[in-house]
Amino acid sequence: MDKLCIRGQNPLRGEVAISGSKNAAVAIIPAALLANDVVTLENVPHIADVANLVSIMRDMHVQVDYLDEHTLRIDSRNMVNDCANSEGVRKMRASYYLLGVLLGRFKHARVAFPGGCDFGVRPIDLHVKGFEALGASVTTKAIIEMKATELLGTNIFLDFASVGATINIMLAAVLAHGTTVIENAAKEPHVVDTASFLNSMGADVKGAGTDTIRIRGVRRLHGSEYAIIPDQIEAGTYMVASAVTGGDIKITNVIPRHLDSISAKLREIGIRIREEDDAIRVIGGGRLKPTKVKTLPYPGFPTDMQPQMMVLLSMVNGTSMINESVTDNRFRYVEQLQKMGANIDVEGHIAIIEGVDRLSGSEVAATDLRAGAAMVLAGLAAEGTTYVTNINYIDRGYEGMVDKLKLLGADIERTGGSDPVLRVIKDHAG
Ligand code: EPU
Repeated sequence: MDKLCIRGQNPLRGEVAISGSKNAAVAIIPAALLANDVVTLENVPHIADVANLVSIMRDMHVQVDYLDEHTLRIDSRNMVNDCANSEGVRKMRASYYLLGVLLGRFKHARVAFPGGCDFGVRPIDLHVKGFEALGASVTTKAIIEMKATELLGTNIFLDFASVGATINIMLAAVLAHGTTVIENAAKEPHVVDTASFLNSMGADVKGAGTDTIRIRGVRRLHGSEYAIIPDQIEAGTYMVASAVTGGDIKITNVIPRHLDSISAKLREIGIRIREEDDAIRVIGGGRLKPTKVKTLPYPGFPTDMQPQMMVLLSMVNGTSMINESVTDNRFRYVEQLQKMGANIDVEGHIAIIEGVDRLSGSEVAATDLRAGAAMVLAGLAAEGTTYVTNINYIDRGYEGMVDKLKLLGADIERTGGSDPVLRVIKDHAG
């Protein structure tokens, strides 16, 4: 099994470029299938979740070619509507977007149950309610099957601002008859990016990024060329990497506005941050102050940055608190940080952190994607050597993390072979 070996306490220095957004890519790549045409996507991140989606789509006879490492050409003119038995679908939660896409394009979808990172029960009841409101009948047994004679636009009020449900309903509604209005919609940057991509194919989606999204159904979509936005969470992760190592790094290819909640929290703690048009410089060091963090839907502090922030706060003198209000059971990784000497008490959705002077190297496991990134950050900051296992989780969402960190001066090695995602992409190069 591959592992990472990190010798800590090197302050990071230099420049790192952020890749395309994972959570936008995993929505936009399947969304390309709505067009029955050729779509070219740029700034596609080079991560395992994308490689998995590509192989699911190839199994559906979609022609997918890498024009270069980050550019995908997707031709779905001869696709078959079948992924009911796909192992790939069972490997990732975001394969739920195939439901909206297939329902939208074929008015019929049979999709295996989506999998994904395990941090508690992650139902998709809001997606299903949305599809039913559009006129689909949905059965969920061994697989999810949906049928509709036609989809009719309607008003849908989401019980809470679910990212997945907002995007999935948009995907199904762009080819429906009439207008669909999603109220209490999610506002995350990847929701907006998916809407912009759909519009680039001829869809009529307005209001993405606000609480109310209006989708006027069109008869058909056409091919398009589109560049995916930079990854908010990858950028945030490198921001914290600089903070925990007392580093000074410039993070390029970012949209600083997407990082506002993270920048605000880091500034409050005492980290210096300088914003440029599409870059952000993060300077650690100095005396840091404890704080309170509550995860919230965008524009609040992202749940996907909660474990990384925990690492930083575990080394800030005084008492900090993290309230995880978006996801259930997303503190499972805390046990791993405790092995490294962190002093954290978890009670339900609340973690109380008593800052310690230093973390110590240990063998720790990535329990999910962002928890894995947090273990790497802890290893970078810790005294001694840290081994991180289960790094297949990290491969799912961070492009070339080892190489990027090495360029910043980190002492980090991957043992057990080369980057498996790179191998997949090389094997599939057109
Ligand atoms: N939920 C329901 N019913 C639903 C949908 C969601 O109960 O129908 C609950 C689940 O418990 C879920 C929580 O609400 O955990 C948040 O749901 P949301 O729909 O907002 O999130 P998601 O679609 O499951 C996306 C990201 C996650 C990110 C969350 C919150 C993708 C592919 N995934 O998940 O990203 O944590 O939004 O921002 O976009 C990650 O990147 O590491 C990651 C887990």
